Amino acid sequence: MTRKLLVTSALPYANGSIHLGHLVEYIQTDIWVRFQKMQGHTVHYVCADDTHGTPIMLRAEKEGITPEALIAKVHVEHSQDFADFLVQFDNYYSTNSEENRQLSGNIYRALKANGKIANKTIEQYFDPVKSMFLPDRFIKGECPKCHTKDQYGDNCESCGATYSPTDLINPYSAVSGATPVRKETEHYFFKLSECVDFLRDWTRSGSLQAEAANKMNEWLGETGENKLSDWDISRDAPYFGFEIPDAPGKYFYVWLDAPIGYMASFKNMVTTINAKVDAGDLPISERLDFDKYWKKEGNEGFNPSTELYHFIGKDILYFHALFWPATLEYSGHRKPTQVFAHGFLTVNGEKMSKSRGTFITARSYLDHVKNPEYLRYYYAAKLNGSMEDVDLNLEDFVARVNSDLVGKY
Ligand code: 2FM
Ligand code: ZN
Repeated sequence: MTRKLLVTSALPYANGSIHLGHLVEYIQTDIWVRFQKMQGHTVHYVCADDTHGTPIMLRAEKEGITPEALIAKVHVEHSQDFADFLVQFDNYYSTNSEENRQLSGNIYRALKANGKIANKTIEQYFDPVKSMFLPDRFIKGECPKCHTKDQYGDNCESCGATYSPTDLINPYSAVSGATPVRKETEHYFFKLSECVDFLRDWTRSGSLQAEAANKMNEWLGETGENKLSDWDISRDAPYFGFEIPDAPGKYFYVWLDAPIGYMASFKNMVTTINAKVDAGDLPISERLDFDKYWKKEGNEGFNPSTELYHFIGKDILYFHALFWPATLEYSGHRKPTQVFAHGFLTVNGEKMSKSRGTFITARSYLDHVKNPEYLRYYYAAKLNGSMEDVDLNLEDFVARVNSDLVGKY
């Protein structure tokens, strides 16, 4: 039986440029995909821009354009960066698409029908000037521990303390500067705490790297202790995203519809390819069936010969190893065959930094170094299947390129 592989890389946010840190993953996935294609397997490699959420909404406002105009501009920029780094997606789409709106709505309705959605009233900080609820990152104030001013609502960059925004001294809104007020609001939750038995089995089934599975035990506990809380999947207007079908003024939290964007990108590709088959521009053997890749065993359309692979960074493991498989399981969909998490990129042994001049965008690399294959080679030589960080040592980079590529190859 021919193996049929659907492969994804994480969807980059549409509010910033692609940089050398992002490229670790796209180059790693692209090489893996090329290898699988060379083995004769059928492989579809899809990705998209991750377009929703408060930061994108606020950035568009700052630039004096609509969020739609911002994400359209970034889509062009990202697509060009990936093409110039020879990353060959079979489809590069957007989470702000009709396919994604429908799939997200359907998945939400299925979770609800399965009793996995709960409503709860919570209290949150609200900006009375902007009339909006504030995510933790948009509340600043004095650190309750070391008293450094202008710290974010979740942790202190000076002393490293972590806390909740309500602990800040003299909190203020990073959007308007106003003092936020506490306000009640109804939110929708995915009852993740009820999925613990399923998640214990799935995370230990071999679909995660051993170190990733161990990390998940921090939430799942070895046996009895379950530290999973229910997951808040809604946000109040104003929010750039999809309105929840039966809840006017409430929107899906960006992390609910982002991974569904993997499905939506594939769905969009299936439609395009099948239209070409219908028009006689592609052979009938190229016809694709969306359900074969996404339906759960026992459901109509399920096909055992398809496989699903996600490449991600270790910072978003929690979403892909807990929230995403549970979302799939309780909405009638298949789970990932394998999730591959990689480590972070350091440059000269340190976190990329604008002030040290080591925050390098994809475009800046291309403008100066020109040849993308040098970086592709360097990353390929250093990457492995673990979650260890990858260091781009600039002197070593030059030495290796000169010795291996220029000198030997
Ligand atoms: O962390 C990030 O950059 C997210 N935009 C990744 C989303 S991946 C997927 F789930 F959509
Ligand atoms: Zn502090």
